[in-house]
Amino acid sequence: MRAVTDSAALAAAVRAARAAGRRIGFVPTMGNLHAGHRALFERARDHAGTVVASIYVNPLQFGEHEDFQGYPRTLELDRQLAAAAGVDILFVPDDAQIYPRGRAAQTRVEVPGVSDILCGQSRPGHFRGVTTVVNRLFNLVTPDVALFGKKDYQQWLLIRLMAGDLGMPIDIVGIDTVRAPDGLALSSRNGYLTDAERAIAPRLYATLVECAGRLHAPGADIPALEASAREALAAAGFRSDYVSVRRQADLAAPAPGDRALVILAAAWLGRARLIDNLEVNLNPAG
Ligand code: PAF
Repeated sequence: MRAVTDSAALAAAVRAARAAGRRIGFVPTMGNLHAGHRALFERARDHAGTVVASIYVNPLQFGEHEDFQGYPRTLELDRQLAAAAGVDILFVPDDAQIYPRGRAAQTRVEVPGVSDILCGQSRPGHFRGVTTVVNRLFNLVTPDVALFGKKDYQQWLLIRLMAGDLGMPIDIVGIDTVRAPDGLALSSRNGYLTDAERAIAPRLYATLVECAGRLHAPGADIPALEASAREALAAAGFRSDYVSVRRQADLAAPAPGDRALVILAAAWLGRARLIDNLEVNLNPAG
């Protein structure tokens, strides 16, 4: 694995890979890598001869009172995991590489509408920060294919919308969420949980599974299901932000007859804000 910190070295390495006829697969990350990232790196290999990963904790996607300063930074361990998972080029830029004129002056990229709902409503400006940095990284890495975890379901949709709107010649691939044996979705923010909170945390996914089961019942009352899921989370000790049933295609509220749905949830447990989701495909009789 080759680690590079500046965009000129990155461009040269990518050029050499392309000249050798290899497709470029890209996995952007904020580091503190875990088995969920490893799955992304390994799947990238299915799509591309050269796998590029980036590690950059992007200040633009954190709100003023969020965890940017305390976000876990574990570069040495990350390098080892990335190398073992078959990453060919690890790009670890600093702020100057990503925002050369300074972050305040940086041109923003924003997908209106979908950026402002669900997590975007609770974290104003978050998704503008995500689409801005991913656009910048795409321009530096010039991938043929980029892979994103479906745990961040809204982010995955926004990146697809951005790539489509801007005519980016990049396949955007979503990869299923990797879970601990008890169901908890792997996330760097799980590290914020105390032992007692970690024991409660799997209830988030369990609540989604219960809600999905009830969604399959004929004539299911979606607002009632959402309310009872929020109550279940509160009873387990979460401070729920939202539980919402949406359409997979655009995250709009489902219309009668919509069958490809997704239940999305965000909830606080201590100082960790956890998110998760579950796709539900109703059968024609459902
Ligand atoms: O999902 C993440 O880790 C980040 O939002 C991303 C896509 C690397 C952009 O900073």
